Amino acid sequence: MESASQAAGENALLPNHIAVIMDGNGRWAECHGLPRFEGHIAGVESARSTIRYLNNKYHIKYLTLYGFSTENWNRPPDEVSGILHLFEEVIDEEVSEFHKEKVKLRHLGHLEELPQSLQQTISKALELTKNNTGLTLGFAFNYGGRTEILDAVRHIITEGIPSQNIDEELFNNHLYTAGMPDVDLLIRTGGEFRISNFLIWQSAYSEYYFTDVLWPDFNEKVIDKALLSYRQRQRRFGGL
Ligand code: IPE
Ligand code: IPE
Ligand code: MG
Repeated sequence: MESASQAAGENALLPNHIAVIMDGNGRWAECHGLPRFEGHIAGVESARSTIRYLNNKYHIKYLTLYGFSTENWNRPPDEVSGILHLFEEVIDEEVSEFHKEKVKLRHLGHLEELPQSLQQTISKALELTKNNTGLTLGFAFNYGGRTEILDAVRHIITEGIPSQNIDEELFNNHLYTAGMPDVDLLIRTGGEFRISNFLIWQSAYSEYYFTDVLWPDFNEKVIDKALLSYRQRQRRFGGL
């Protein structure tokens, strides 16, 4: 089978911005007779290899990963604190490697509700990588699409911007993703057909790719398939 990058020739038909809802960690663990948390640990490995593959093989410019939603606080406290700790550990471990690979990190979501030490770890990682010119890697952590839109509205009002000046471009520039392009391809693993409050403004005209594969089992083959599928879509944006 030809790969999406071969098929795309000069990569013109590759998405500029890919967003991923990394779902199915808990069910993966259950299938393997393991506690849910082992699924999150396995999910980190998938995230690592996905980032590297999309960066090194396809040279994707923008990748956004959904790691923790504003609704995920509704989970049992043990699972929540496990995820928060795991995330802090991963950033700590990975940040210098990302920096070497010229990856620029962006955090999408609210920092305030996160533990102090995680806030500091995130801030340090953003600061270290802020001038990098390679892949922009957004991690949506404590992210909610509706909250993002409300935050944008609040900022616009606080800045006293007159209503006649509010257009889509201005609104875009007040979202967490300011400066990032719209999502071209949104992938969800884990077999659910919903977007769970993820990038609802930015994915208004995205192509969607849903797969039953559980996030810890996500691999290069599935990525190739998703990109091939994307390439075969006809994006019309309302035109002909
Ligand atoms: C996604 O996997 C990771 C997070 C939401 C943090 P889940 O934990 O939602 O796994 P399932 O959907 O229960 O299998
Ligand atoms: C979406 O997954 C959030 C993340 C992957 C971080 P959920 O498992 O929380 O979504 P629902 O509950 O199935 O909508
Ligand atoms: Mg889930």
